[in-house]
Amino acid sequence: MTYRHFIDLWQLEASELRAILDQAHAMKRARQGWPKGKVDADAPLEGHTMAMIFEKNSTRTRFSFEAAMRQLGGDSIIATASDMQLGRGETVEDTARVLSRYVDMVMLRANSHGDLEVFAEAASVPVINGLTDRSHPCQIMADLMTLEESGLDLKGARLAWVGDGNNVCSSFIHAAPKFGFSMAIGTPDRFAPDEDDVSIARDLQGRIDLYDTAEEAAAGADVVITDTFVSMGDRDGPARLAELDPYAVTDELMELAQGGAKFLHCLPAHRGEEVDAEVIDGASSLVWDEAENRLHAQKAIMRWCLYK
Ligand code: CP
Ligand code: NVA
Repeated sequence: MTYRHFIDLWQLEASELRAILDQAHAMKRARQGWPKGKVDADAPLEGHTMAMIFEKNSTRTRFSFEAAMRQLGGDSIIATASDMQLGRGETVEDTARVLSRYVDMVMLRANSHGDLEVFAEAASVPVINGLTDRSHPCQIMADLMTLEESGLDLKGARLAWVGDGNNVCSSFIHAAPKFGFSMAIGTPDRFAPDEDDVSIARDLQGRIDLYDTAEEAAAGADVVITDTFVSMGDRDGPARLAELDPYAVTDELMELAQGGAKFLHCLPAHRGEEVDAEVIDGASSLVWDEAENRLHAQKAIMRWCLYK
């Protein structure tokens, strides 16, 4: 059997991604009102264990994956890389080979995307990208699920990304051609999204429009999205905050988008930096559903990985 790794969205067929989202919606509906620790009626991952390794901090990814695995009837084992021999120089490959003998699947939050790819290559179980310096595909599946729940048809929708063209932005870019939405991205030149990611999407007939200002990107958009201006691993915090300040999402920026436009942010948020409290805590914000949907989307991702 081929291992189904969930590394980047551009690597999956549009039909597979669609099926994952459909399953996530259905599973969420099926357990509405249940206690969060109750196992799904069909316990699809009963008897399965997942390892989660964190090289970086996490709240949502850690708790949502662990809760998700419980709901699926499976089990999880969590460690930070610094607790492991990995943190003392054991190779990524050896770690992957050994863990593959203990568990059925591994979720890795890695500093370096290259390390995640090396891990996946050496593993003999499916590997899930729980965020790297380059991408955050699980987040975008939850975000797209949230937008669909809000009534948005992704096909033909226009999603504006403003601020730092970072790892989360890259996964949105990868998703655009798969779901048929266009991206309007407003960043300073220095923080423009990765050219390779833009090329990948354009080669797949995705529409990715790049702008120099947040205002141009937000104009007429159905959704406005941002993320922290200083990601984990960024060393130039003060310079970033100064340069990215004009890209903050304010009520005035939201006014430029479509009437009823929604706001997304993967969290953690910094009110007064990348977004004003009036926006993230206001009526257009979907951030709490977005955070909840990490759980539901990841349940469907894990089932896909294990052909369940
Ligand atoms: N959005 C997200 O991945 O959050 P954590 O860093 O808390 O996991
Ligand atoms: N871009 C952020 C996302 C955190 C979930 C980071 O990498 O720190």
